[in-house]
Amino acid sequence: MRLFFAINFNNETRSRLLALRDELKSKAESGNFSLPENLHLTLAFLGECDGGQVSAAKRVHGMAVFEPFDITVDTIGRFKRGSRDNRHAGDLWWSGLSECKPLIALQRDLTEKLVAEGFLLDRKKYSPHITLGREVVTDAAPWAIEPFGETVGRLDLMKSERIGGRLTYTAVL
Ligand code: 2AM
Repeated sequence: MRLFFAINFNNETRSRLLALRDELKSKAESGNFSLPENLHLTLAFLGECDGGQVSAAKRVHGMAVFEPFDITVDTIGRFKRGSRDNRHAGDLWWSGLSECKPLIALQRDLTEKLVAEGFLLDRKKYSPHITLGREVVTDAAPWAIEPFGETVGRLDLMKSERIGGRLTYTAVL
């Protein structure tokens, strides 16, 4: 089972993100754009897990120190993937959040608990992002957006799978 910890959004935030995704789509020549139901914020990516690791991930979900907190989505950005010679590889485009200390604290707490359970995690600096599209080819530059947000009330343990060729994320806990 391919697992990750994430925050899912309420309908209002989801529709605001969807509008940004659609704006990006309208500016792009091509790309693989996130499905509405797949818009989320990842805190920790565990990858493929065996039975023991699934149990460990569920234990960590139960132990994570979670208190509701506010998030604000306030930017559009991209991780450059394609080089100048290989423009058609496209970039990953995302929506970013304003500084959010409770989110970072939660991500650290989760990471520590997962490492203690033996998970080998990516130790790169955490850069919170909500993926709007992958392999996006466009000449557009990131644009300014009107901030919006919500109070996050829960942390989800998610599984990622392909069902009939469609990338599907489902909450396990
Ligand atoms: P992405 O949107 O930037 O690709 C489910 O796949 C979630 O886990 C996505 O949010 C994805 O981030 C993230 N993810 C997938 N592979 C990852 C990896 N190797 N390291 C960190 N996050 C990853």
